[in-house]
Amino acid sequence: MAIKAVRGVRDILPSETGKWQRVEAAARRTFEAYGYREIRLPLFERTELFARGIGDETDIVKKEMYTFEDRGGDSLTLRPEATAGLLRAYIEHGFQVEPKPVRLYTVGPMFRYERPQAGRYRQFHQANVEALGEPQPAVDAEVIAMLMDFFRELGLAERLALHVNSIGDTADRATYIVRLLEYLRPHAAALCGECQARLERNPLRVLDCKVPECQPVIEKAPSILDSLSPEATKHFERVREYLDALGQAYTVTPRLVRGLDYYVRTTFEVLTTELGAQNAVAGGGRYDGLIERLGGPADSGIGFAIGLERVVLLLGDDDAASRPFVLLIPLGEAALQRLLPVARAARQAGVAAELGYGGRKLPRELERANKLGVDYAVIAGDNEIASGEAVLRSMGSGEQRRVSFAALAGELVSLARKDGAP
Ligand code: HAM
Repeated sequence: MAIKAVRGVRDILPSETGKWQRVEAAARRTFEAYGYREIRLPLFERTELFARGIGDETDIVKKEMYTFEDRGGDSLTLRPEATAGLLRAYIEHGFQVEPKPVRLYTVGPMFRYERPQAGRYRQFHQANVEALGEPQPAVDAEVIAMLMDFFRELGLAERLALHVNSIGDTADRATYIVRLLEYLRPHAAALCGECQARLERNPLRVLDCKVPECQPVIEKAPSILDSLSPEATKHFERVREYLDALGQAYTVTPRLVRGLDYYVRTTFEVLTTELGAQNAVAGGGRYDGLIERLGGPADSGIGFAIGLERVVLLLGDDDAASRPFVLLIPLGEAALQRLLPVARAARQAGVAAELGYGGRKLPRELERANKLGVDYAVIAGDNEIASGEAVLRSMGSGEQRRVSFAALAGELVSLARKDGAP
């Protein structure tokens, strides 16, 4: 029996890679315009980094990590997210001496052992951004605006909603959890089984539950914004003022809590209603204190990650896959010898050219030209070789004309330039 891919892990097929390239290019263009530089990080790290970074009590660390012992006996984990590894590199390479904020981004696969469903995979990809060492609320607003610029560039902004919140500092959160538990405990019987367990382990996550029976209880829960210290309240007010100044629309959603423990103050998510339960396309927030907990300087930080599979799903099937510009059709061996270097010259000039290899009849090759969706076909047999001119056929109009072999590559290049084709 043939071996299949692992559950929750998928191949990105050639029919989809055009869209992936477009999404990744938009991310790079947007981030670099804001001064972010790319960093490439390892796919696995010491398990302890994630336990300390993401939090022992989070679902990610408790249930979702791909952890293994390597042959040297070290406990390693495939990265479930990029922030912890990026901060590890920031500390290890002494980035803190650079002018602040240090702006870094990274793109690549992450691994979480979650139950696979549409939009949720066990290997998935993120574009991840971090701005390090600058506590000013203007950075929060700018990071959020940049995230929305990325979606705007892909024409998706109108279909997405930006939710922002502040979960305050650690002490604010402790105060809030007491208030939340006071409210939730009497309603415990009305909550789903999972939430009843969360009451003990991680009560904030109750606010994030999607189960319908929990919604009436969640809707009436006290707002975390009422538990913030004056400083945290001020910080959040400033973030909102700057977002307003940037003309960036948003909704304040006090129930927005995130699945990772390192956040303080600003948190945000970009949501869609188009992907069923997997409604978060991107999420992030501030994590002052985390760099220090990982053994580094007391630098602040804020960032986000975009779920690239979900972005690609939103783009739908409307994208034209990349296709060659021309098919060169030699009819016989002598013609193949004449057209091989023509194809090479066209390709060297950046024109995507396909070549037949002389073994098929003309009607079959023209059928192939149609299937490939090329703009032009070049046809050459013994007669053309004798006359020194190949036939150049426009596949759209069916018009044909003759072009000398010597001028052929140049003609294809100038046609492709005119067309703006690859
Ligand atoms: P996160 O919310 O865990 O945040 O993930 C960010 C995004 O990754 C999600 O909104 C979602 O689009 C995508 N995602 C997460 N899990 C899956 C999955 N199993 N399959 C497909 N897509 C998924 C973080 O990872 C933080 N490190 C973000 C951050 C950076 N915060 C500060 N800096």
